[in-house]
Amino acid sequence: MTAIPTPAPVQGDINWFVHDRFGMFIHWGLYALPARHEWVKNREAILDEKYDKYLRYFDPDLYDPREWARLARQAGMKYVVVTTKHHEGFCLWDSQFTDYKATNTPAGRDLIQPLVEAFRAEGLKVGFYHSVIDWHHPHFPLDRLHPLYKHLTTAEVLEANKKRHIEVYREYLHSQVRELLTNYGEIAYLFFDFSYPQPDAAGLPGKTREDWGSEDLVRMVRSLQPKILINDRLNLPLDQPDIHTPEQTQPRAWVEKEGKPVFWETCQTFSGAWGYHRDETTWKSPEQLIRMLVNTVSCGGNLLMNVGPTARGAFDKRAQQALNVYAEWMAVNSRSIYGCTMSPFQAPADCRFTQNGKRLYLHVFAWPFRHLHLDDMADKVDYAQLLHDGSEIAFTANSETNCLTLQTPIIKPDVTVPVFELFLK
Ligand code: GLC
Repeated sequence: MTAIPTPAPVQGDINWFVHDRFGMFIHWGLYALPARHEWVKNREAILDEKYDKYLRYFDPDLYDPREWARLARQAGMKYVVVTTKHHEGFCLWDSQFTDYKATNTPAGRDLIQPLVEAFRAEGLKVGFYHSVIDWHHPHFPLDRLHPLYKHLTTAEVLEANKKRHIEVYREYLHSQVRELLTNYGEIAYLFFDFSYPQPDAAGLPGKTREDWGSEDLVRMVRSLQPKILINDRLNLPLDQPDIHTPEQTQPRAWVEKEGKPVFWETCQTFSGAWGYHRDETTWKSPEQLIRMLVNTVSCGGNLLMNVGPTARGAFDKRAQQALNVYAEWMAVNSRSIYGCTMSPFQAPADCRFTQNGKRLYLHVFAWPFRHLHLDDMADKVDYAQLLHDGSEIAFTANSETNCLTLQTPIIKPDVTVPVFELFLK
């Protein structure tokens, strides 16, 4: 048996978060038009004159946030985190502090308001992703990530930065966050993205908590929304973030920072980009999708699974199919996810345990022939069944070897990842 890690208490309301376990990330912005990665402005070093053309052509005529919310709920997702603004700087809401926003596109309206309402109506909690990086704001000092950087020499960057005043940008950042946390009701989670303290090869600084005014920003956020959870990308000391957010990786154990266990959520994509990427083909298989969710909860974390809607405002067919994989599985197996966490028991090879009190869930990644052996568990189980259909599973206990053996059906049930529900004594 392994002791279950206990993270230090955090300031926000963590209870719903560790219960719900599964959320939807949404990356939507002007980058849906080029449809070749949300970092396209950086990757191709696109200048404003060219990039801003997308503003004139952003026309999401199929946008129906109630449909998005319905698909999320059916997939078993319990919260949503939507990009209010990504690094490109474009704002999906009607901010009074900029013209670079959805209201000034053919969409002609605030796109966040109806989304917030739709997801709440489906019973999901609402969170915002907000980029502290901004490649559009004229006072955002140039650094190695900025699209303009590749066009200039270091001397020219330094010269250009004389006219860029971070305090002006910082004021803008804080004002917009205040706006988002004032005008859209209760926001459960704020996902800031991101800091990069290391200087580049020429010694030009990245961006840190000083640039964002992170301490003040967090103070304001907590005063406006006392229950809100804040993530770990503002370059603040370890006692500040509520949630740690390893991305595009599958932890093998409870996530630790500076040797201490933390509350954590891993964010993942269906394919290799966050924004809609038409030609990206590394879409994950149904097995990978379900295993990621299971594996995450078995290590005590949450999964935030991303959808990148198209420029028309829809989830494309591939995203819908991926969501459907979750919907089918969660319809009969969600009991092994909600309210569950890491188990103190050691799972057999190719299996993952999650646990909720006296119920232990055994997820089988590779279906065995007739028997599944659970070491050190001979006297632990009172009753066992397959979770998806509640059919009894017989077992034998060997007190000499302290092994419990489940009698498994020869044919793997038609479930992406079958789950056994074990009722502990
Ligand atoms: C990143 C990327 C990004 C994505 C995000 C999600 O740091 O810059 O495009 O939005 O993380 O976690």
